[in-house]
Amino acid sequence: MTDAGRQRLDALMARGSALLGSEVAILCGAMSWVSERNLVSAVSNAGGFGLIACGAMTPELLDAEIAGTKALTTRPFGVNLITMHPQLFDLIAVCAKHAVTHIVLAGGLPPKGSIEAIKDAGAKVICFAPALSLAKKLHRSGVNALVIEGMEAGGHIGPVATSVLAQEILPELASELPIFVAGGIGRGETIAAYLEMGAAGVQLGTRFVCATESIAHPAFKKAFLRANARDAIASVQIDPRLPVIPVRALKNAGTEAFTAKQREVAQMLDEGKVDMGQAQLEIEHYWAGALRRAVIDGDVENGSLMAGQSVGMVTSEEPVADIIATLVREAAGALASRRELA
Ligand SMILES: Cc1cc2nc3c(=O)[nH]c(=O)nc-3n(C[C@H](O)[C@H](O)[C@H](O)COP(=O)(O)O)c2cc1C
Repeated sequence: MTDAGRQRLDALMARGSALLGSEVAILCGAMSWVSERNLVSAVSNAGGFGLIACGAMTPELLDAEIAGTKALTTRPFGVNLITMHPQLFDLIAVCAKHAVTHIVLAGGLPPKGSIEAIKDAGAKVICFAPALSLAKKLHRSGVNALVIEGMEAGGHIGPVATSVLAQEILPELASELPIFVAGGIGRGETIAAYLEMGAAGVQLGTRFVCATESIAHPAFKKAFLRANARDAIASVQIDPRLPVIPVRALKNAGTEAFTAKQREVAQMLDEGKVDMGQAQLEIEHYWAGALRRAVIDGDVENGSLMAGQSVGMVTSEEPVADIIATLVREAAGALASRRELA
């Protein structure tokens, strides 16, 4: 890595790093069951920015997880909250109690008053923007930063590729507020490219799953190490009346089970046993349970192996610090070689 490349990288990341309070503007995206105190603190200690995945946690569990993370790092980290959580405002209050500095709101547009509640508590609020129009709306609502995430990503995904979202949103809004690009990033060269397009930083998930510090079950990690990009496929919606947010995961028996689950829920909807909201919640609970079975119990056949297309670039279990150092070296190298060509 040349000094010139690293200096250019630091300069391109300066806005993102300043917003996060980290050395480099690389977020480890919140991953339910995976992003708990050990991985989150390891990422922040290594100079990146860790995020606790609150998922379906109760306020009490989140309280304990934040306290546990604080015991492992003095560096800043954030909390990712799902907007449809029935106790969203209680969770925001728990974050406020711990003076959490950054909250990411995921899973849909933030409900009325949530952005204000976070800002009143003195934290910065970061939201996902699935399209340019919504990015502008969120900017007007006063969010401090945005994440744009493409369909290459692991977990719940939108319909548009990262490369297209980046082209649509960065030229319009990157000068107005910091934007982090997520989805399909496995190497530093790509980080350099998005930074040069105006991104303030990046968010990676899949690349961190096999970190030594990640508590994911050895069988879960092994599945990642074996998989190629084409194994990480998006779930298919089988009933047009039941809008299911697609989930990208490694193909296994659980993929088939999800199709069966959708049929079951669609039938409950037909029979009037549940309304649409309950039907969608059933589906979300299914995912949370299936992901837990794979990540924690190691049931890689029937559980959900949420993974992004960058999974083919995950080739070994290594410490978080090494992953971040590799990404930084690759990004700085790419930037340095462009300067030499200029
Ligand atoms: C196993 C797994 C679980 C995830 N769970 C969540 C989650 O609970 N909340 C969330 O906002 N994003 C979740 N994500 C998305 C990540 O936070 C991140 O944005 C995404 O992984 C970035 O794309 P990449 O996988 O291509 O690096 C998950 C991703 C994976 C791989």
